[in-house]
Amino acid sequence: MNSRKHTPRGLFIVVEGIDGTGKTTLARDICRRLESKGFPAVFTFEPTDGPWGMILRRSFSAPVRLTPEEELDLFLKDRKEHVKKVVSPSLEQGKIVVCDRYYFSTMAYQGARGLDPEEIRKTNEIFAPAPDLILLLELNPEAAIQRIRESRGELPDNFEQIEYLERVTLIFKDLSDQSIARIDAELPPQELLNSAWQRVSDLLGNRCFPVL
Ligand code: TMP
Repeated sequence: MNSRKHTPRGLFIVVEGIDGTGKTTLARDICRRLESKGFPAVFTFEPTDGPWGMILRRSFSAPVRLTPEEELDLFLKDRKEHVKKVVSPSLEQGKIVVCDRYYFSTMAYQGARGLDPEEIRKTNEIFAPAPDLILLLELNPEAAIQRIRESRGELPDNFEQIEYLERVTLIFKDLSDQSIARIDAELPPQELLNSAWQRVSDLLGNRCFPVL
């Protein structure tokens, strides 16, 4: 039996990919473009800035990394709260939710630490609404690390190590989901946005949204 929960009314768009792919910029740009065209859009992200998300963010640069099980537990707690407080209420109000990372990141990142990605998917599908569109940005891990060092002027954190990102990339490559659209993150920013926007407009079709 398919345990996936379906979006009640609005639309749910998720942007995924390894660190350094430009996911956050793309998610924000899509949200802005939706708003400029009069659609009721909400930008959101995971890990959130709620209590569980903050524990996770602090752990990214801690000298000792949490165990995979501890990490999984915190990401699930953070997501449950996020779904309850932001994602589901916004979808129920008919809004278009654009989320920077979701449970495909948990499958890939905690899967890359030895947990079973399919088990992680099943656990999430019990409570997390299924996205209508997953924009999956693809970039090789060397280029991603290079971008983190150069453009962000930051040292890579615990999650941004090459061997780890290689394992994460393999899981993202293997993901299969009817809603996935793979996009080449090496495209220049404007082309990247246009390519993603094409998928978003296909999804919007002739649907009507409430004026809020
Ligand atoms: P961010 O760079 O998109 O803010 O995400 C912070 C880190 O969190 C990133 O390295 C990926 C990691 N992450 C997981 O390991 N599992 C998850 O479920 C999510 C949402 C993020």
